[in-house]
Amino acid sequence: MSRSVDPLFTPFTLNGLTIPNRFSMAPMTRNFSPGEVPGADVAAYYRRRAEGGVGLIITEGTTVDTPVSTMAATVPAFYGDEALAGWKRVVEEVHDAGGLIAPQIWHVGITRKADAAPRSEFPSAGPSGMVMPGKKIAEPMTKEEIQNTIDAFARAAYNSRELGFDAVEVHGAHGYLIDQFFWGGVNNRDDEYGGDAVARTRFGEDIIKAIRKEVGDDYPLILRYSQWKQQDYDHKLATNSEDLGAFLKPLSDAGVDMFHCSQRRFWEPEFEGSNLNLAGWTGKLSGKPTMTVGSIGLDGEFIAAFGGASSKPEPGKIDELIQRFENGEFDMAAVGRALIVDPEWVNKVRAGRFDELLPFEATALGELA
Ligand SMILES: Cc1cc2nc3c(=O)[nH]c(=O)nc-3n(C[C@H](O)[C@H](O)[C@H](O)COP(=O)(O)O)c2cc1C
Repeated sequence: MSRSVDPLFTPFTLNGLTIPNRFSMAPMTRNFSPGEVPGADVAAYYRRRAEGGVGLIITEGTTVDTPVSTMAATVPAFYGDEALAGWKRVVEEVHDAGGLIAPQIWHVGITRKADAAPRSEFPSAGPSGMVMPGKKIAEPMTKEEIQNTIDAFARAAYNSRELGFDAVEVHGAHGYLIDQFFWGGVNNRDDEYGGDAVARTRFGEDIIKAIRKEVGDDYPLILRYSQWKQQDYDHKLATNSEDLGAFLKPLSDAGVDMFHCSQRRFWEPEFEGSNLNLAGWTGKLSGKPTMTVGSIGLDGEFIAAFGGASSKPEPGKIDELIQRFENGEFDMAAVGRALIVDPEWVNKVRAGRFDELLPFEATALGELA
């Protein structure tokens, strides 16, 4: 480490919310909520990260109120009295520890495997029923289903505010429902929700507008998006900065406060001819604050973790993070796996205790420590 970490420990104000430092906890599905209800152990898990100095906790993806938004009965829902009471306890624990927290509201869309999911009698939902380009497994969503889903996102954001969450993040990344609308490979609709790359933002845009109507202008709203899809890691929604700017504009205009730009490795340049990463380009093109993510402080990326791969701490990458931050490339940085194995990760970085950073072991996915 050659640089001071102090710049990352300055406050940042997002639409009226002052976040004490630049580190957030990345949203991570943990599958520890039986019956789709987050329990006391989930609340204690998030509390430990607040105690560990995380500036803003973003929860695991939590599903909006449609029968087919989820892929597993252990993923927490964001509707229904029991699940919302569980989330209220999460907010209370995090606030009690002095932390800030936003739910990541989510609809998995056509990636849901109906026979393994709750309410398996319902077919999975996607813009054109395609799970991969050319692989149709269901009928396209009807206009009514689309409107119901938009309403479900808006209700979730309303409940986020009602429960006392400090902000809300919409999951528009990784090949899930909103991203399925963005992606021409699985969206060939010929109505207003399909068309060219800008027209395909319409579903996301309608969700952001509907949320704004419910929560007002003064509630921080983060949109997470990615170029890559779980169905195709090399895919890019935009292959150049001009196209990326055109894609971002309707979403930005609809009321996004911050774009959370999901990369698997934050140091990878997005387009040829510039070192800027996805967050760097997104901020430059939209004029909005951004959050970066991807292998911060670790030497391996996260998809390999699901195949059992471990990753070693790599403080040199924190050095690069600071350098890019000082260059103005992004406003915040989300940390994933490092915070699964170590709730104290942020406090350790703040204190320069780099030799105490822990390796990520895939076995950590099996417990809620
Ligand atoms: C166990 C696990 C679950 C994840 N679940 C989600 C999720 O629910 N929503 C989401 O947007 N990303 C999810 N991700 C991706 C992370 O938010 C993050 O982008 C990724 O892990 C890269 O950060 P890292 O390299 O610091 O781990 C998940 C990652 C992991 C490891």
